[in-house]
Amino acid sequence: MFYEPKKNNHNLTHDPFKSCVIPRPIAWISTMSLDGIPNLAPYSQFQNLTFDPPYVMFAANQTTDGRRKDTVVNVEQSGEFVYNMATYDLREAVNLSAQQVSPEVDEFELAGVTKAPSRLVKTPRVAESPVHFECLYYQTLRLPGNSPMSAVDIVIGKVIGIHIKDDFITSDGKIDILEIRPIARLGYYDYTVVESVFEMVIPGPDEKLRAGMEGKRYKDCP
Ligand SMILES: Cc1cc2nc3c(=O)[nH]c(=O)nc-3n(C[C@H](O)[C@H](O)[C@H](O)COP(=O)(O)O)c2cc1C
Repeated sequence: MFYEPKKNNHNLTHDPFKSCVIPRPIAWISTMSLDGIPNLAPYSQFQNLTFDPPYVMFAANQTTDGRRKDTVVNVEQSGEFVYNMATYDLREAVNLSAQQVSPEVDEFELAGVTKAPSRLVKTPRVAESPVHFECLYYQTLRLPGNSPMSAVDIVIGKVIGIHIKDDFITSDGKIDILEIRPIARLGYYDYTVVESVFEMVIPGPDEKLRAGMEGKRYKDCP
């Protein structure tokens, strides 16, 4: 089949687009309003952009009534946010925090999760999550949409602090992904969970390329 998004002529019962770029990691973003109210929401339009220094981005569409999402307002006003990794054990809390509620609601309470203090930013972390990035706001790129809801704020942040729970670090110094069981979006109401890992090494003579892929420390690089 072939269709043009502009015409939306796919003739399927559901728009397939969001199921064509999968699995999408879920950034469970915590922020704080200027009034000090903590906010929490999942964003699967999320990625790391680079690693030295690390930057991440998430893309927030508008609310169903065409307003900017609380997360974006808070990030821009406070200059910071925290990425919390979403896991299978936390899936129901992640889902609860996706409800569109008033900015006065403490969404940690709504989701039933615990606040843990951050080290370098004021925004709290989700204590139950195994991995957190403390981020400083860098920039918003706004793309126009075809409807009030589909305009999007692409928020970029610089990662200045990274927490990884010691329980999830293996004896050979890697993150134990299979123990963590991160979840990811597949479009529709569908999700996946990381339950298997396989390894592939780039062939050829370029040791530096391989070392970069593997994430070797610079002092160990050839
Ligand atoms: C798993 C999951 C992923 C989501 N990803 C996004 C996303 O990438 N962009 C977006 O605008 N909304 C996304 N949403 C919806 C937001 O979480 C929802 O609009 C939320 O109410 C926003 O909260 P806020 O206004 O406190 O920022 C997602 C929802 C779920 C359950």
